[in-house]
Order: sequence, then structure tokens, then C-alpha cells
Amino acid sequence: MSLKAGSEEHKAFFCRQFIDTYQEYDPETLPWPELDDAALARLRAVPFWQEVYHTERRAGAIVNAFLPYVSDPVVREAVALQGVEETRHAHLIRVMIERYGIDATEQPMDAFPEDLETAFIDFGFGECLDAFLGFGAFKTARQSEFLPSGMFDIFDVLMLEETRHIVFFINYMAWREKRRGHVAITRALKSAWFYGRAARRLLGLVRRGQDANDGKDFAVTQANFFLDGFSFGKFVEDCYRENARRMKAFDPDLMQPRLLPSVAGLALRGLRLWDRRRPQIQKAA
Ligand SMILES: [Fe+2]
Ligand SMILES: [Fe+2]
Repeated sequence: MSLKAGSEEHKAFFCRQFIDTYQEYDPETLPWPELDDAALARLRAVPFWQEVYHTERRAGAIVNAFLPYVSDPVVREAVALQGVEETRHAHLIRVMIERYGIDATEQPMDAFPEDLETAFIDFGFGECLDAFLGFGAFKTARQSEFLPSGMFDIFDVLMLEETRHIVFFINYMAWREKRRGHVAITRALKSAWFYGRAARRLLGLVRRGQDANDGKDFAVTQANFFLDGFSFGKFVEDCYRENARRMKAFDPDLMQPRLLPSVAGLALRGLRLWDRRRPQIQKAA
């Protein structure tokens, strides 16, 4: 990276990159595919549309609520655009729910904490975690031909925007922390702490989801689409590779999320080592 992280040039650059890669589209007029009965049943049986819809609505609300507190005009322009995109994500999910008759409704929005910047930062690290896991899940789902490829093409637009959001966020955080005079180590510890919070929230969500439908409907009827031959190692590998592939589309002068890819890379090396050693260990036993 040739730009000094946290400098005015860095700020102008990462905001400009974000603003210039905005794409205009209307969720109503996207090429939504016709689904046959089997595909429609699979789409409707996915147990998390309600949660996805709520998450996108909440995302738009948090970003828009934080907006008036952003004093820098260029950063504010970029954050405003993120708000537009998150609001449009919720709109896109609503169009899909209505078009395909999915059983998901609007949930009431929880109140935001007083400190909206912390809410925005919590949300940003949450997005980094969701996107990283989403990269692997998206690849698995696409490969399984769970739905026609036209549907995945639509979701790919959404994934690209989420990837832009996390790249913007990582650069924003570096700029913000530098301005506050925080050194690299404090920044790293702080992100690890925020990632911990994001992971706990995600686990809580998974648990709530399991309680809500007991995993039955989805597990028995649909999940074997994904889970046939599912391996944890392959999933981590998919996340890792898809992250690298998607990040290649960004200017190398932008900072990128590093913590999760590093942890995943380390885990993969461990898993490979374990695979190589396992026959020897079993023989010895
Ligand atoms: Fe979103
Ligand atoms: Fe986002």
C-alpha cells in the first residue's frame, strides 16, 4: 500500500473508491427467474429469510442513524451511499419475499444504543464476519444448484456490495483510529474484541434459529442439498479462497480485512497437517 493509512489522502482515496463503484439498479426490475415447484419449495423452506430481511432493514437504519454524526463531508457522502445500499438490500429481500410467496414478515426494530458510532462499529465488524462466512456459504449453495443460477446472479450483486462495505469499513476504522492516535497494536486488539462480540451475536442468532424451528423442516428436507459431503475443512477453504478472489477486484492501495483470512489460513494449515499426520497417529495407536 503506497498511501499512509489514516492520512487525508488515504481518506479521500477509500471514500472515492467506494462512491465511484456504486451501481444503480431497482430491485423491482431485476431479472428475477421463474422457479419451478421444486425450486420454489426449496427457496421457501430456507429458514433464515426473516432474519436476513430484518438484518438488512436494521443495517440501513443503523447506517442512516449514524450519518448525522459523521463530520467529515467526504466520509459522510460515502456513509450516506452505504445507507442507500443497505436500504435497497432490504427492499430487494422484500421484493423476493413477495414475488415468491416466502413466509417472512417485518419484525419491530430494536432501539439503538445512544452511542451511534459504537453501534456502527459493532455493525461493521459484524458485517466483516458475516461476509467472510457468507462467501463460503454462497459458493456451497451455488455449487449445489440449490436454485437456478439467475437467482445467484442477483445475490451476487448484493454480495459485491457487502464486500465493498467491509473494505470501506476497514479503511474507515484505520483512518478513524489513526486520527485518535491509536497505534497498530491497540487497533488490532480492538478489532479482535469487536470480532469477539460479533461472533457471540452470530452464535446467539444460530441458537435462536435452532430453537425457533428445531432445525427439523430445513435439516431433513433441504439441508442435504448443502450438507451432502459437507466438510468443515472445505467450508473454511471456500471462505478463504472466495475472500481472496473477491478482494482481488479491489484496488491494492485499499486496506482489506485481514484478521479472519489469517485465522482461516492458519486453521487450514493446521487441518492439512492433521490430515497428513492422522494415518501415522492411527498406526501408532
Ligand atoms: Fe446489506
Ligand atoms: Fe452491508
